Amino acid sequence: MAILLHEEGLLHKSRLYGTDMNEHVLKKAKMGSFPIEKMQLYTKNYMQAGGTRAFSEYYTVKNGVVQFEPFLKDNMVFAQHNLVTDGSFNEFQVIICRNVMIYFNEPLQNHVHGLIYESLCTDGYLGLGNKEGVVFTTHASCYEEVDGTETFYRKVK
Ligand SMILES: C[S@@+](CC[C@H](N)C(=O)[O-])C[C@H]1O[C@@H](n2cnc3c(N)ncnc32)[C@H](O)[C@@H]1O
Repeated sequence: MAILLHEEGLLHKSRLYGTDMNEHVLKKAKMGSFPIEKMQLYTKNYMQAGGTRAFSEYYTVKNGVVQFEPFLKDNMVFAQHNLVTDGSFNEFQVIICRNVMIYFNEPLQNHVHGLIYESLCTDGYLGLGNKEGVVFTTHASCYEEVDGTETFYRKVK
């Protein structure tokens, strides 16, 4: 997301929040390092998403570990947040909540969808994991699929 915003000239005026309930996960995310084995897939995803540069411009490699450019984290806030027990803490233009709700039962999924709905501005975008969707949730009618995908939605009401 930071790279996308950077290439659109928007990163300097954006604020990105990375949240998880697990502090170890947050600590790892803050480091911005990834195993080199992932780079082939990430490069492919970058190109498919319309990236305009060489993906390798965004990282350096040392001892088999990829370190992303620190400027990408300049406007990022990493915070502990529990989707089940904590409330909404801001209004966002984009929310990406991937591969968490697959582990939740139906009432919990609906609870999290309520939280997401409350936290997303009208016309804001919601990205879910590829085994997740809004179709069978209490908020199905509030979203429109974007580009015919079942994982990327716009909040319409
Ligand atoms: C399978 S990982 C998905 C990570 C990432 N979103 C992705 O797609 O690669 C699930 C993550 O959800 C987090 N998680 C599980 N229950 C949560 C909750 N109630 N609130 C916030 N995060 C939660 C876990 O700590 C874990 O990092």
